[in-house]
Amino acid sequence: MEFDFVVKKRNSTRSFKNKKASWKDILEAIDAANQGPFAGNQNDLKFLIVEGKEAIKDIAEICEQDWIKDAGIIVLICSDEKNLENMYGERGRVYSRQQAGAAIQTMLLKLTEMGLDSCWVGAYSDVSLKEKLKIPSHIQIEAAIPIGYAKEHEKKKSKNKLEHSLYWEFWGEDKRQKHHEIEREIDKKV
Ligand SMILES: Cc1cc2nc3c(=O)[nH]c(=O)nc-3n(C[C@H](O)[C@H](O)[C@H](O)COP(=O)(O)O)c2cc1C
Repeated sequence: MEFDFVVKKRNSTRSFKNKKASWKDILEAIDAANQGPFAGNQNDLKFLIVEGKEAIKDIAEICEQDWIKDAGIIVLICSDEKNLENMYGERGRVYSRQQAGAAIQTMLLKLTEMGLDSCWVGAYSDVSLKEKLKIPSHIQIEAAIPIGYAKEHEKKKSKNKLEHSLYWEFWGEDKRQKHHEIEREIDKKV
């Protein structure tokens, strides 16, 4: 699929058919997510793949989102920020969350490209999930991704208009200026 098409096609699926995704496809999506980028080239990610029906039901309960129980597979994307924190202090912890977010999005896009459906789930009790899945307390659970085949694709919501998200050259400046005008502004400020 063409990149722009995949980006626009990806959406959150919250109802799954009774058809399980192949674990080999899941590995392919994880492999894509695991390509980075990574701050200081420190890949601190771990992917926990959950296929057991009972465990999936338990995760749905912990997330308090009943639809999750119909997913055939859930991948938990986790990170261990220790190395990054040792290297960069508090900022390293921020990097760890940021690179996990990048990996999650790559994974969602790869799943979309392979014809699979998923949803980024971030609402859960960390403590309960860690206890249930034997995840050590120092590990961050960045997201749970239930994966399957959509019963039906939710209608794509109209996305934010790009112009509402843009500033030009300076914070708050929402009009693009001609280049010489920008230089004049900078001259005035120095
Ligand atoms: C950090 C984060 C946490 C999210 N947590 C949940 C969640 O717990 N449950 C859920 O149904 N969707 C969750 N979502 C998905 C958003 O609701 C969804 O991306 C948003 O409504 C836009 O819809 P779209 O993904 O179809 O474009 C989460 C998304 C992000 C980025």
